[in-house]
Amino acid sequence: MTELFSEPATEPATEPATEPATEPANELADELADESPAPPASPSPPAVALRPMRLEDIEHVSRLERRCYTLPWNSSAYATEVGNPSAYYVVATDPDGTITGYAGMWVIMDELHITTIAVDPVQRGRRIGERLLLSLIEEGMTRGAERATLEVRERNTVAHNLYLKYGFEDVAVRKNYYSDNHENALIMWANDMLSAGYQDMLRDYKARLAGTG
Ligand SMILES: CC(C)(COP(=O)(O)OP(=O)(O)OC[C@H]1O[C@@H](n2cnc3c(N)ncnc32)[C@H](O)[C@@H]1OP(=O)(O)O)[C@@H](O)C(=O)NCCC(=O)NCCS
Repeated sequence: MTELFSEPATEPATEPATEPATEPANELADELADESPAPPASPSPPAVALRPMRLEDIEHVSRLERRCYTLPWNSSAYATEVGNPSAYYVVATDPDGTITGYAGMWVIMDELHITTIAVDPVQRGRRIGERLLLSLIEEGMTRGAERATLEVRERNTVAHNLYLKYGFEDVAVRKNYYSDNHENALIMWANDMLSAGYQDMLRDYKARLAGTG
């Protein structure tokens, strides 16, 4: 199942839009700038909400899946996963209810196995992937997980960075693991999820995410 992880993003991540810096050209412009009404604030990105995946989400999730992975799971796999009590699947939504990303995991004994994380290619760079990963880790710990694992393509730098940020380390390499291009899989583990240091890190990242919409 986790071969789902094998597929890298097919479209580049987007960067959040930023306003260009404007500087008055001379003193008069400076004065005018002081007296002018403040420019309208740039629109903030829409708030991201997370909720458990439902059967009725699967059609949309499958469409996203085909845009995010070159060897997508079929929709029946998601239907099975949503009904699996050892699994947890979550979707990220915009305020209008549009699904912008999804992620899933299994908890087996004290191990959290992350099976997938994907964000709509046009919504990347909004910390949706990070929120999804954090939600899996938190739910996994609630269910008794003490460590977590996943596999990722060796050249999937974006996902690898995300996992490194959340304390995962490269532990093993599965050579020629992926059937389409024989790319290696990196097996990553986060082994110290119950440590004070790890918990502090999660709290810190969670607080930062709360400040970003
Ligand atoms: C991996 C993926 C889920 C990240 O989603 P995202 O919402 O764009 O990522 P976020 O905005 O939450 O970024 C979180 C972290 O990811 C990493 N990251 C995100 N975009 C990056 C980029 N363009 N370059 C390098 N690292 C990047 C960074 O570590 C970032 O944290 P930082 O900015 O504090 O350093 C998304 O790229 C995706 O769906 N990829 C296709 C499917 C896939 O490969 N899934 C993983 C399979 S193992």
